[in-house]
Amino acid sequence: MFNLNDIIRPNVLKMRAYSSARDEFKGAASVFLDANENNLGSLAGEGFNRYPDPHQKKLKSRIAEIKGVRPEQIFLGNGSDEAIDLLFRMVCRPGQDSMLHLPPTYGMYEVSANLNEVEMQAVQLTADFQVPVEEVLLQVKSETKIIFICSPNNPTGNLIEAESIEDILESFHGLVVVDEAYIDFSDEPSWTTRLKEFPNLVVLQTFSKAWGMAGLRLGLAFASEELITVLDKIKPPYNINESTQALALEALEREEALKDMVEEIVQERELLLQSLPDLPTVEQVYPSDANFILVKVKDADGLYKFLLGKGIVVRNRSSLPGCEGCLRISVGTLEENQELLKAIAEF
Ligand SMILES: Cc1ncc(COP(=O)(O)O)c(C=O)c1O
Repeated sequence: MFNLNDIIRPNVLKMRAYSSARDEFKGAASVFLDANENNLGSLAGEGFNRYPDPHQKKLKSRIAEIKGVRPEQIFLGNGSDEAIDLLFRMVCRPGQDSMLHLPPTYGMYEVSANLNEVEMQAVQLTADFQVPVEEVLLQVKSETKIIFICSPNNPTGNLIEAESIEDILESFHGLVVVDEAYIDFSDEPSWTTRLKEFPNLVVLQTFSKAWGMAGLRLGLAFASEELITVLDKIKPPYNINESTQALALEALEREEALKDMVEEIVQERELLLQSLPDLPTVEQVYPSDANFILVKVKDADGLYKFLLGKGIVVRNRSSLPGCEGCLRISVGTLEENQELLKAIAEF
């Protein structure tokens, strides 16, 4: 049985959150002399002299409506990278506990584990980039506190089979983090729809991809209310800045535009998926449910440099085990994709 309190670090269980000036005073007032702000104004623009809402109430309530969850099930981070780091700090005792991830996958799980002195257990994805569930469960030990599953996976682009994720959620009594940074580009439903069934499920999403807000740094974690309360307790109090909160609220009113943009990116992705296999240097094009495509080519280093020479930068993933000979290519605009295809054809 999964019991959240059994896996939270004892120091985290015991600690109290920082109480900010805005937490201690909640009524109406006209003179604010409680937070050591600059009451003369701001050199950056109106309103920026005040600290932002530490609980991001307006933003969470709007996100909750759109995502079909309760505001209490949402944690907002300075990018989902912040959520990844806080999850480690919440449950992994440095020098004692471990996490399990499934390479080739997103690199920040490893970086964050190293920073937090958390041992890394790696189980390679299968040849078709799926999760070898039995092997994962065999590797689990009492110190394993988190399993990271990225779906659609970066850098491979594919969705992880729902059955595999379900099996792990049912059999593993630590946190199962399903990173859905690219879910908006897929037709599959989000795992946020399954939160009720699995108290050990944490779903990560981000505004950096489909919403086009990478520069603002806004990531999300969805989980049980109990778990979100702990993340909120340990986060830096003002982790989402004022301009991010304000601009994200505006963006959330443009859902139609989001749909149009996602549709266009998916259409461009499908065109690339059709055109790339015809190029002589291309050996394999992997299926993608994301806004990028993993492509195996005859000479990845050579093609990478050739494209750079033409002013086109893609990601060389050929040194990653499982991605030998592969480049990861983000879907661009129609013109950019045409330029890319033309350049690869010239190689
Ligand atoms: C799978 C995955 N998760 C998380 C992130 C980070 O997202 P954010 O910009 O919200 O920190 C990325 C960014 O590339 C990613 O690929």
